[in-house]
Formats: sequence, structure tokens, C-alpha cells
Amino acid sequence: MARMAIVLAAGQGKRMKSKLYKVLHPVCGKPMVGHVLDVVREASCERAVVIVGHGAEKVKAYLGESAEYALQEQQLGTGHAVLQAKELLGEAEGTTIVVCGDTPLVRASTVEAMLKLHEESGAAATVLTASFADPTGYGRVIRGEDGTVQRIVEQKDCSPEEAAVNEINTGTYCFDNRKLFEALGNVKNENAQGEYYLTDVIGLFKSAGEVVQGYCTSDLAEAIGVNDRVALADAERFMRERINREHLLGGVTIIDPQSTYIEAGVVIGADTVVYPGSVLRAGTVIGEDCVIGPNAEITASEIGDGAAVKYSVVAESVVGAESAVGPYANLRPGSKLGRGCKIGDFVELKNATLGDGSKVSHLSYVGDAVVGKDVNIGCGAITVNYDGFNKAVTEIGDGAFVGSNVNLIAPIKIGDGAYVVAGSTLTQDVPAGDLSIARERQVNKPGYADKIRARAKAKKERGSK
Ligand code: UD1
Ligand code: CA
Repeated sequence: MARMAIVLAAGQGKRMKSKLYKVLHPVCGKPMVGHVLDVVREASCERAVVIVGHGAEKVKAYLGESAEYALQEQQLGTGHAVLQAKELLGEAEGTTIVVCGDTPLVRASTVEAMLKLHEESGAAATVLTASFADPTGYGRVIRGEDGTVQRIVEQKDCSPEEAAVNEINTGTYCFDNRKLFEALGNVKNENAQGEYYLTDVIGLFKSAGEVVQGYCTSDLAEAIGVNDRVALADAERFMRERINREHLLGGVTIIDPQSTYIEAGVVIGADTVVYPGSVLRAGTVIGEDCVIGPNAEITASEIGDGAAVKYSVVAESVVGAESAVGPYANLRPGSKLGRGCKIGDFVELKNATLGDGSKVSHLSYVGDAVVGKDVNIGCGAITVNYDGFNKAVTEIGDGAFVGSNVNLIAPIKIGDGAYVVAGSTLTQDVPAGDLSIARERQVNKPGYADKIRARAKAKKERGSK
């Protein structure tokens, strides 16, 4: 049977009190609507229609061509929202999954199980429900004496008895597609919010003698609908636990999962150890046997097997296998370390490539540079890549040695195996194998230190008389 999906994402999300449209708020680094669309894809839906309204352009720009779109110009309710997909899906035979764009924790496996129940029982609708100790804010699932779902009542329309019901509507459903669009035509907006509720379809089906199923999930996190920042923080916590658990089961040691923040989609190899305070952001791929943290912030970067990153920031960079970064290093975008490199304390790299075995051990800035293999860049040495107007490139050949406190004024090339003496400020290229020195010659004046002290003392005595 054909499977389709409708994702509701047109609301502004007033309760978020945000400039950002609700469904674009990230949970563990991925916008909520992105999580929902992943689920729909995993549940092998042939088509996915996203209902957009507030921030339509932004939502479309984020999701791109992975979905079809229907515009809901005015947000007249969830039923009205689904109706906007009629032109695209109204005539299709099959099952339609409807998911809200603000329920990022729904699992694909749950949707699959729900679909199975739905299709096997020939239901017109199946609702994903959950039992909350505090159901405040959610629609209540009202069951009949025989235990079957009769209808869903929104919080604002509840009688005291209905409000006391703990089973809630998670906002995820399976529908017989044809019957869904037929029933939506009969939904009215006579309720406390004056909206066309999708949930009213359930009651309509029941009165028409259709089969309606309730599929209750025991994972309460799955049911969170993010309407405000309190729920957003809850969703973040639950998603974080879920992500960390997957890594733990995959063979990663996380010393303290409560204080380790790994975003959706991050890949970590087995036997890597992640220490507390680490933030591993989307797009990061970490190899096996690495040591990450304490306090590493790594964004969209690749960390090779056996590498270590401690107390450091790494963004859009590559750290080769067996390399060590930190403590207190800053790898800005475009840094690429080969194998077995060492980047030590208070070193900043930007748009710089280092060949295998090269070392920048302390207090350096290496920017817009191409550095060869086995190069040693001494303490305090810097590439002077910016003259206030333009950026220029520094090239350093294999096996070169750059002494401490050297300024390499770019554009400049230091040849293979060259030796730059400490304290030099270089403005010209150094050929391979040469030694370069560019500093004042030292002059020692014998006994002069005692002489100036005596002179100063005499001056002071004259002054105090
Ligand atoms: C909805 C359900 C409620 C359920 C809860 C689960 C209805 C009437 N109520 O309530 O039973 O317990 O979700 O989280 O369906 N949207 C549109 N267009 C609209 C209105 C909403 O696209 O006109 C979208 C929103 O962007 C959001 C989703 O639909 O992603 C749900 O809307 P929201 O206003 O958050 O509904 P709830 O009050 O949470
Ligand atoms: Ca909601």
C-alpha cells in the first residue's frame, strides 16, 4: 500500500517568544522539522508534504528538495493545515502519516509499529498516544467503555472529567488517505480556539462506524510537543540521552553522559573516550581510539584514529590520525593536520595545512599557510598573513625549522630543511637548506650594568638634598 506523509509546520510558535520559526529551533543541533522528516523518510514514505506558512521560505530553504510543500496562508488550525495537502495528495489511495513539526522525538520504529497495527486492523485512523502524569496542554484521548478511542478533546475544550484523563494525543497519526480528506471537509471550528482541529476527524470517524485505533507508546519522551522553551529544554535533554546511549552501545566510552553534548548525526568510532564538558557538533566524524576532552568543542570536523583533542576548539577542520591538539588550541575553519602532528597550548590555526609529524607546540598563529612534513614551528612564531588590506600565504617546506618568536611576513616561502633563527622577522623567501637570520646583532658592554646603577644612585642622592 502506498505510504505518504504530511508534516505540519506552518505555525509561528508564539509561545517560543522567538524570532526563529518554531519548527526551525534545533534540538541537539538539528531543526525539529529535520528530525521529523528523517522519521518520515525512515518509515519509507514515498511522498512527504510539508505544510508551510510562517517562515515558509526559511523552512523550504532548510529542507530543500527532500519534500513537497503546500502553503497554509492563514493558520486556522491543524485540520485546516492538513487540508492544504488536498491538491497534492487528496486523490491518492493508501496510508498517510501525519506528524507535527514540533515533535522531534518521535521514533521511526514507533511509526512503523503503528503503521503495522493500522494497516492490519483496517483502521481509518490510528493515533499515537502516551500516558502523562501531568497531561496539561495536550489533547486528551477519550476512550469508550470497550476501551476503544472515541474522540480527542483539546485541553481548552475539556470538561473537568476529561481534563483528568492522563492519556494524551502525541499529534502523530496514520490515516486512510481518502477517508482523511473526506472527513476534513466536515470538520467545524466551533471550539474554544475557533480553529479547525485535525483531532475532530477521530470523533467523526467513530460516529461513522469506522475503526479507530490508539497506539500507546511507553517512551514518554517521544510524545513531547515543543510549544515553549521549557519543552525545548526537555526535548534537548531526552534527545541527548538517546544520542549518548547509541554511542555507548556502539562502543564509545562517555565518562559522564550528563555533561557530554553530542549533536545529531555525529559519528564516533569504537574505543574512543569522551571526557566531560565536550560539545561535539553536527557534521563531526571522530575515529577509533581517540581521546576527546575534557572540554573539547568540535564542529563539522574530522578527527582521525588515535587522535587527542583536549580543552580546545576545532571548527571545520581535519585532525589527522595520532595527532594531538591542546590543551587550549583553536583550530579555525580550514585547518588540516596530517598524521602525528602536535598543536600545543595557545596555538591558533586558520586555513592552514600541516604535513605529517609537524609541530606547533606553543603560542603561535599559523594562518593561510601550507606547511610541509616534520616542520617545527617554535614558541611564539607567527605567520603575518594580513597587512590590514589583504591576506597572503606562507609556505614552509618539509623538515624546516622555524625558531621561537619568528615573524614570517607573507607572502613568503621557506624552503625544505631551511633553518630560521629565533627572533627573526623575515620579509624574503629562504631557499631550501639555508639558514636565515634577520635580527639586530647583540652587543655586550662589559661591566656596564654596575655603572648605570651607580649613576642612578648618585642622581637620586643629589635630588634628595
Ligand atoms: C496539537 C494537538 C493536540 C496534541 C498536541 C501534541 C490539535 C488540535 N491539537 O496541539 O491534541 O496533544 O498537538 O503535541 O491538533 N500547525 C499548522 N497550522 C495551523 C496550526 C498548527 O501547520 O494552523 C502546526 C504547527 O506548526 C505545529 C503543529 O501543527 O507544528 C501542532 O500545532 P500546535 O499549535 O503546536 O498544536 P498543539 O496546541 O500543541
Ligand atoms: Ca504543539
